[in-house]
Amino acid sequence: MARKTRTEERDGGMKQSKGTGDGYDAFLERFPAYKDTAAIDELRAREFSRLDRDGHVYLDYTGGGLYGESLVRDHAAFLLNHILGNPHSSNPSSAVATEHVEQCRHRMLAFFNASPEEYVPIFTANATHALKLVGEAYPFSPGDQFLLTFDNHNSVNGIREFDRARGAVTRYLPVFPPDLCVPEETIDRYLDEDGGAGHKLFAYPAQSNFSGVQHPLGWIDRAKAKGWDVLLDAAAFVPTNRLDLTRWHPDYVAVSFYKMFGYPTGVGALIARREALEKLHRPWFAGGTITVASVQADTYYLAAGAEGFEDGTLNYACIPAVERGLDFMERIGIDVIHTRVMCLAGWLLGEMLALRHGNGRPVVRLYGPADTKCRGGTMAFNVYDKEDRGVDHLIVEERANRCNISLRTGCFCNPGAGEMALGLAQDELETCFSDPEARMTYDEFRQCIDGKSTGAVRISLGLVSNFRDARAFIRFLGEFREP
Ligand SMILES: Cc1ncc(COP(=O)(O)O)c(C=O)c1O
Repeated sequence: MARKTRTEERDGGMKQSKGTGDGYDAFLERFPAYKDTAAIDELRAREFSRLDRDGHVYLDYTGGGLYGESLVRDHAAFLLNHILGNPHSSNPSSAVATEHVEQCRHRMLAFFNASPEEYVPIFTANATHALKLVGEAYPFSPGDQFLLTFDNHNSVNGIREFDRARGAVTRYLPVFPPDLCVPEETIDRYLDEDGGAGHKLFAYPAQSNFSGVQHPLGWIDRAKAKGWDVLLDAAAFVPTNRLDLTRWHPDYVAVSFYKMFGYPTGVGALIARREALEKLHRPWFAGGTITVASVQADTYYLAAGAEGFEDGTLNYACIPAVERGLDFMERIGIDVIHTRVMCLAGWLLGEMLALRHGNGRPVVRLYGPADTKCRGGTMAFNVYDKEDRGVDHLIVEERANRCNISLRTGCFCNPGAGEMALGLAQDELETCFSDPEARMTYDEFRQCIDGKSTGAVRISLGLVSNFRDARAFIRFLGEFREP
């Protein structure tokens, strides 16, 4: 007899796709579209069996996606069958590497339905690197503006250091609890208050990696119509949502590929409109980015297009795996992934918010939209006891670890959303940052904020999430209920 996996033992051998009992039928009744995503159950059994074999409940897809077995195997076979040399030389090994890198560029544009006449695909190390390329090269000068939503990742927040150093102004567009969205009437007001700036850069996440909020892509057109350049941080959005760059025309888009399909890490992209790329002034040159440089003439010519932004040697051994990863996602269908994630998110939200202690008080306080209308499958919250005292997020994490549940706690590099969600006021935060020369550890920061929670718990769904993951998580949360 075949040995049962740990998950099968725990679930009495119930197979997800058969779905008998334990709320699965009721779930399907409420979310019938989930049935249309059954191909993902087969995919999970075929390519991600390690999850169920090890009884692992993976709920950290916004931290990093998971790779399918075929992706790794096919890439290994590719590496073993090709001789890859450093690109951009005419020698045969170099030519092979160049060919595959260029092929992957085309694939990337096709995946996002971006016209090569309009967009340039630039390989980077990750989304952070893509964002930095824009920040350091955007032509900020005194009086210019950098506008960004409160719920940006630190890799976007950090751009403010570039704009300030050059005399431009940073302005934050607030998000408000409980849903952590930007009120519709505010967006135009902020876009209109540009102070007569020459260059204006507006940055926002298509999906917040803290709250899961999806800000409208329609902001892109609105901002551009008012003269703003738009930087769209799509890192947390594209793993489970379609980004169609024929429908939307952001100037700069940042992504990390491991968030989409797990492997390879170390490759991301900046997808930039040609015109917008022309606007950037690189602060230096390096190997790979110039056509010619001279020591004696003390100058250089920057290479045109993507090359001018790709410092040093590209990750040419891994880039061909990106092409495979994009194919892999396309075979599943981004809309199928999206449907599945949103069915599970809808169910999870309902169950989490319904969890009550014996005295009727809620177990969970959610930070973000309570339904699936303007959000993705990333959910942040804290757990409360029956006296309404917060349970430290680190305790929740510790208990989840013991149940083999991968979730994440803290502020997820998204301090603005965290501050708004947790009600941390500007003056108390300023106190913690009063000595600019000092360094503070996260523990010291927690003490400084004194008594208030400085973080949340985050779960995030992705490529091969299933009902069993969701149910296991709700069972885990149920253990915090007090009679
Ligand atoms: C919305 C968002 N932007 C940017 C990043 C940075 O991505 P990376 O660490 O891959 O550079 C992340 C990572 O979690 C993210 O979620």
